[in-house]
Amino acid sequence: MAKDKDVDKFAQELQKQIMEQIRKRYSETVIDHWQNPRNFRKIENPDGYAKVKGSCGDTMEMYLKTDKENISECGFQTDGCGTSIVCGSVATELALNKSFIQALGLVSADEILKRLGGLPQSDVHCAQLAAETLRRALADYLYQKRAQ
Ligand code: FES
Repeated sequence: MAKDKDVDKFAQELQKQIMEQIRKRYSETVIDHWQNPRNFRKIENPDGYAKVKGSCGDTMEMYLKTDKENISECGFQTDGCGTSIVCGSVATELALNKSFIQALGLVSADEILKRLGGLPQSDVHCAQLAAETLRRALADYLYQKRAQ
């Protein structure tokens, strides 16, 4: 029984130290999106869709649904790192309830980085992957709409 308590105490201390290291590298906004990713889901029959492979080899998918001219739903999935989930989460928030033109003007890696309070240089490509995937999903919607 005493051993179990020792193990619990060790695990808690380890977790605390890991979180301290994470907080040195990442903002509270990054940690919030990492712990509670928004819109991390597939959307059936999307009006706009894209799948992009990033420079690291990871992929991201974005799904859009429209309500007249505004983006009413935006979801994403990724097989990438934790930071790609954070960046995808912020990207969907940037697009939601915006017109396509507004979203196209707003969605960029720089804007994602700004909203996150920055990322370490080694994670910047994760923001680029999220922005590129969303921009291609927006372009897919516009292309499909024009073809109708
Ligand atoms: Fe591949 Fe972050 S390392 S998306």
